Amino acid sequence: MKVLLSEEQVRAGVQELARRIEDYYRDKPLTMVGVLIGSIVLLADLIRQISIPLRVELVQARRYWGQARRPGPLAVDLEVLAAAVRGRHVLLVDDIFDTGQTIAELIPMLDELGPASVRTAVLLRKQGRSQVDFQPDFVAFDIPDVFVVGYGLDYNDMYRNLPYVAALEPEELAG
Ligand code: IMP
Ligand code: MG
Repeated sequence: MKVLLSEEQVRAGVQELARRIEDYYRDKPLTMVGVLIGSIVLLADLIRQISIPLRVELVQARRYWGQARRPGPLAVDLEVLAAAVRGRHVLLVDDIFDTGQTIAELIPMLDELGPASVRTAVLLRKQGRSQVDFQPDFVAFDIPDVFVVGYGLDYNDMYRNLPYVAALEPEELAG
């Protein structure tokens, strides 16, 4: 495992992200919606760096895998979200923007609930991976196309608790 972003670097990046979000949403009713599970560490740190009033919601984007072993559609329980989203400015928060598929599917679902706007914030954006025609609005770090763990990001549900972001070596990704 190779440290890509130290705890100090992550802290500085999150602080800077928080400043930009705070400036953008000043005088706008903000609802931050974290995408479970990967966003929880970022979300917890981020909201404590933002002093404007805000609401917090979580969305579990569960992906069903078909027999073809390709990703199926996202299943999201939108009922609980509706009240926190209608008429408010929504900021989707996720750990990483990789292909962009997850966020690309969540945005239209949120749009149906009548928000004032929907934007996205991520800790990391992987270079050269996007398969969608938009970019996240707030990005703390651009990283190379390597598999990373820590600060909420997992490999087989492990490593989320690391306080830094590390790249797994190919041999560590085997089993
Ligand atoms: P996307 O839909 O391809 O943008 O993928 C987003 C999701 O894939 C993230 O929320 C992560 O859960 C997962 N993911 C993508 N790249 C990595 C990685 O390098 N490490 C851990 N999880 C990743
Ligand atoms: Mg994940």
